[in-house]
Amino acid sequence: MNEKNTSVVAGATKENFRDEVLDGLSKSPRQLPYKFFYDQRGAQLFQEICDLPEYYITRTEIEILRLHGADMAKALGPQVELIGLGTGAGTKTRILLEELHNPAVYVPIDISKEQLERSSARFREMFPTLQVLPVCVDYLEPFELPLPRRLSSRSVIYFPGSTIGNFEPEIASEFLARLVDVAGDGGGLLIGVDLQKDRDVLERAYNDAAGVTAQFNKNLLVRINRELEADFDLNRWQHHAIYSPSEGRIEIYLISDNEQTVHIGAREFQFRAGEEILTEYSYKHTIAGFIELARQAGFHFEQVWTDDARWFGVFYFTVL
Ligand code: TRP
Repeated sequence: MNEKNTSVVAGATKENFRDEVLDGLSKSPRQLPYKFFYDQRGAQLFQEICDLPEYYITRTEIEILRLHGADMAKALGPQVELIGLGTGAGTKTRILLEELHNPAVYVPIDISKEQLERSSARFREMFPTLQVLPVCVDYLEPFELPLPRRLSSRSVIYFPGSTIGNFEPEIASEFLARLVDVAGDGGGLLIGVDLQKDRDVLERAYNDAAGVTAQFNKNLLVRINRELEADFDLNRWQHHAIYSPSEGRIEIYLISDNEQTVHIGAREFQFRAGEEILTEYSYKHTIAGFIELARQAGFHFEQVWTDDARWFGVFYFTVL
């Protein structure tokens, strides 16, 4: 049971970071790919966001796990192979694994190699009988799963944090369809989804008083400056997050406070005063709407667990 990181393959390269940044900034309206938020500093800032009083998401999902983890374990059954998508530091996964009956294998999949190595080491220590097989890939691209040595009853994908909300509905639906194949016949999907609620609560969660979310958003520019020889002036960009009830989504932007020119390597970009760069959408679903989205992708709805206020849902689907 002494697997080292033999299955860790290369993560995102600098070339595709550059390509995706240049590509996004050349679009109209301009956008930056959100998956690059999580460099070391970004991961740290996101951890801080999770602890903010306004950011109810993490706290509520953890509360649901604590309250209903035993019930979830019953639904998933014994000896599962748990496939964690973008599980970050692993706080929620740990709670889940502690509830599961004799889990066989844990396959954490993450784009951040440092995070993956750190959390895999911790999980091996905490769960000595669990086979931990980390895979360092961008799970938005097709990937291969390692072959576990331990026998499991079924593969259950664990996708917490409402990351599915960061995908536009069409992409979410394609992605869920791919997860049906990853889970395979008899497999499952346990997924955390943020639900529609009062606009003020939502907008506060993405505009915290301490300004951590603004720092997190701007850290993307810091990273571009550092890794792609760019010269974004951080003082001239504002964080902006607003809820669109008609689209059911929080829209997160960086706004140019003035006319300005930015260089990225040999490329030059002109921004107008007030021009926006979209950095992320965060869709908020209804329970019925999300069940329907997953059904269309090929999942069978089993159960949903929520907090009392119904702010957040943890859904369990299976592949029949
Ligand atoms: N997936 C998280 C969410 O949508 C990410 C997030 C939280 C985020 N706050 C942010 C992304 C601010 C960009 C900017 O809730």
